[in-house]
Amino acid sequence: PSAGLLAGRRVIVTSGPTHEPIDPVRYIANRSSGKQGHAIAKAALAAGASVTLVTGPVNLPDPPGASCIHVETAREMYRAVEAALPADIFVGAAAVADWRAEESAPEKIKKDPDQRPALTLVENPDILAAVARRGGGRPALVVGFAAETENLIDNAKAKLARKGCDMIIANSVRSEAGTFGGERNKVAVVTAAGVDPWPELTKGEIGERLIVALSKLLPGAAT
Ligand code: PMT
Repeated sequence: PSAGLLAGRRVIVTSGPTHEPIDPVRYIANRSSGKQGHAIAKAALAAGASVTLVTGPVNLPDPPGASCIHVETAREMYRAVEAALPADIFVGAAAVADWRAEESAPEKIKKDPDQRPALTLVENPDILAAVARRGGGRPALVVGFAAETENLIDNAKAKLARKGCDMIIANSVRSEAGTFGGERNKVAVVTAAGVDPWPELTKGEIGERLIVALSKLLPGAAT
């Protein structure tokens, strides 16, 4: 049903977690599998878009037809997104690590009975906010996700304003929701126009529904 909706459009999607090294062996990460982000990339491809998928480490095949860039850290993801711009639509579905270790040890940190290792964390660049706040070359539509364990809608509204994006897809990542790694998701779409709760769907269906919704919001779209 979405065939041709994004013909001639460029879409950048981020997906998966990032891995932030502590030493050559260990890293900070999160539970994202990449299934939701990859499903959005596939839906954009099916709608005829030219798609760049910037993905953290996941166990998923590259969607055929997408230009896939594999990264590990938030800073690499940031640089890859900057290099992939311009685009008509940016969707930040990746679970980007908010923090990284200030210094990654060059050698494996050894156990020392007299000293517990201390980890100093520093903030990573906010990719979504940077894309949304670009002066020239801002995509017409900048879409983020909000992964929350509490106060889902309030936090999503706050992210919409703080990051300057056009749409936030709010999803619960409480463990009982099974969102991380699962096949299904239940989201609410938050825009300046209000909050639109969607029924529980497969991640593929969410991707398709999102692409249809975005195609209607693009400047120049038929109304
Ligand atoms: O990968 P799955 O297992 O399928 O699970 C899907 C998902 C839960 C990971 C996905 O649906 C989702 O919610 N992705 C965003 C996760 C996240 O990092 O949420 P956040 O609320 O911490 O971040 C808000 C937004 O800012 C996100 O669009 C994120 O990509 C972006 N961000 C965050 C931090 C940062 N440094 N840079 C960013 O761009």
